[in-house]
Amino acid sequence: MQTPQRYDADRLLARLDRFDLTPFARGLRARVRELLCCGPQDTVVDVGCGGGRAVAEISAEGPHAVGVDLDPRMLDAARSRHPEADLRPGNAYELPLADASVQGYRAEKVYHSLDDPARALSEAYRVLAPGGRIVLAGQDWDAYMVDAADSGTTRSILRSYADRMPDARAPRRQRALLLDAGFHGVEVEGSVLVFTDEEVLPMLTALAEAAEEAGAVSAEQAASWTADQRERAREGRLFAAVPFFVVSAVRP
Ligand SMILES: C[S@@+](CC[C@H](N)C(=O)[O-])C[C@H]1O[C@@H](n2cnc3c(N)ncnc32)[C@H](O)[C@@H]1O
Repeated sequence: MQTPQRYDADRLLARLDRFDLTPFARGLRARVRELLCCGPQDTVVDVGCGGGRAVAEISAEGPHAVGVDLDPRMLDAARSRHPEADLRPGNAYELPLADASVQGYRAEKVYHSLDDPARALSEAYRVLAPGGRIVLAGQDWDAYMVDAADSGTTRSILRSYADRMPDARAPRRQRALLLDAGFHGVEVEGSVLVFTDEEVLPMLTALAEAAEEAGAVSAEQAASWTADQRERAREGRLFAAVPFFVVSAVRP
């Protein structure tokens, strides 16, 4: 499992904030709320709630929302942003919730950091009441694509990024994992998140640095790849994209 210590929490929060305010992310959260189908009497848990935005949005629509996160720094940020929210320290593998106590379970951009998603899904099954709905949303980081002059170095950089995650391919596996866990009515929706403006440049340069540190590319390869991306940014020719999946199911 990816421990919170491996994150730079401030950088992650800043990145989440930039993403969460985009039309894509707003639309995604709205679609997740729709798929959860929860009413004012229901309780929804947001596992890996981060800064708490989804928790606040769900509560504003009526259901009681509980945010759970492993990282105390994320919970601190969530509490300062949403003082009225029900936010609890906890792990996706052992949720601070009673059996069959929630009607909705959501996790967004979380399952790629779990090394045992089947265990997390069996915990989801435990806390969901019969008829309750689970919705998982996230990027398939092993299908991340970046346009670059040197396709070999690009492949090495992106593979190194995916290989450092506990489960970069989590979204493509979730359908089968939900079926294995005994969920019914599993449905998958997909879209592609496209980045063309220079805001993605820091993430791309960080990818090259990390791949160099991991020994996946040489310093020269990383420098020349980064120079190519900087040039593309200057010329307005950046292109990066990652597929995003929303997988939903019902606990029988
Ligand atoms: C990329 S952030 C996404 C946050 C939020 N869901 C969002 O969409 O903005 C992943 C979050 O999952 C949390 N997390 C990672 N592993 C976890 C686990 N095993 N149990 C609970 N939370 C976890 C991290 O601390 C982090 O806040």
